[in-house]
Amino acid sequence: MNILVTGGAGYIGSHTIVELLNAGYTVIALDNLVNSSRKAFERIAHITHKTVEFIEGDIRDKALLKKIFANYHIDGIIHFAGLKAVGESAEKPLEYFDNNVTGSLCLIKAAVAAHVPHFVFSSSATVYGPEAPVPYQETMPLGTASNPYGQSKIMVEQILSSTSAAVNNFTVTLLRYFNPIGAHCSGLIGEDPKGIPNNLLPFVTQVAVGKRAQLSIFGGDYPTPDGTCIRDYLHVVDLAKGHVKALQASVRQQDGQVHIYNLGTGRGISVKEIVETFENVTAKAVPYTVAPRRVGDLTAFWADPSKAQQGLDWQAEHTLEDMLKDAWRWQENNPEGYGEN
Ligand code: NAD
Ligand code: UFG
Repeated sequence: MNILVTGGAGYIGSHTIVELLNAGYTVIALDNLVNSSRKAFERIAHITHKTVEFIEGDIRDKALLKKIFANYHIDGIIHFAGLKAVGESAEKPLEYFDNNVTGSLCLIKAAVAAHVPHFVFSSSATVYGPEAPVPYQETMPLGTASNPYGQSKIMVEQILSSTSAAVNNFTVTLLRYFNPIGAHCSGLIGEDPKGIPNNLLPFVTQVAVGKRAQLSIFGGDYPTPDGTCIRDYLHVVDLAKGHVKALQASVRQQDGQVHIYNLGTGRGISVKEIVETFENVTAKAVPYTVAPRRVGDLTAFWADPSKAQQGLDWQAEHTLEDMLKDAWRWQENNPEGYGEN
């Protein structure tokens, strides 16, 4: 089966391509490299001994999309391409809506015109909104997002649901990720943020490798056992495997419906626990200070992952120690990431 992976050079996309290739799929990757490196594909080839057809381009390029769907018989799409920095999205809302919403719209239109039957979308736990009680369950309504990034995820979920209802044989899977961390155990691919990392783990590993002096823990006065925020961190390889299982389920069902799954561990971990466990498993010090709260951060959320376990036969298998060791192996072996930032 030919699978089009948008955003395939990125963090989650590259790990998912490894799992798709290992499972026997043929992969066509489309990425404009705005937040990634083409070197990821060399590394993927090294890991899998298989190659990917890489097309450098933008999901908003309608002529390019038309050409791709004419040249390849695409059986399914996994759509990762998008901008993901929450803070930046508040400063540049139009850029985020254009890239994430208009871009997705272009892709969905082209997919429908080409009669692609399976569409898997990278959504986020952020769509539950601050009102939702934990653990988050897929039956809960979409919430309100406080930033354009989160709003774009809600909008694309809605566009896909309406499209699936109107178009025959368009099966949609919305995967709501919690907090992916870690890297492939080879240490060859991993998260390579451009500039100062927004997310916790790349910041922690960059402090440990000496690229940054210290971590700021955003908020030490939350109503949690140690005062720091709680999230559901899962290994990126578990997340990648979840995509393969979602695609397989979509192909099995072929029902033209929308399927929603949380991909998380079901376990909440605090920021301080992350730092302490990282120091224990790597024997590297991570100096930190407790800084003011970051605007928009929720106190604590984690997944109820039981639907994915029942419906996809998927569950997160790696431990927190595995995630942190693997994140460190990638950072230690590649102090400058892919070396292009
Ligand atoms: P990433 O930035 O590493 O990957 C995204 C990829 O998309 C990059 O390679 C980038 O170059 C590409 N891209 C962006 N805009 C594009 C466009 N217009 N055309 C073509 N390519 C484009 O991010 P990631 O962490 O791998 O995230 C993948 C997806 O998962 C994103 O949609 C993100 O919003 C979503 N997600 C990520 C997280 C997380 O914590 N990493 C959590 C929830 C959801
Ligand atoms: N944090 C710090 N210091 C840092 C970076 C983060 O203390 O330098 C803290 C944050 O305050 C938060 C926790 O670490 O408590 C995790 O923060 P991240 O930025 O790594 O992740 P978020 O939970 O804020 O957001 C992530 C993705 C979003 C996605 C969300 C839910 O970045 O795209 O998970 O899936 F929407």
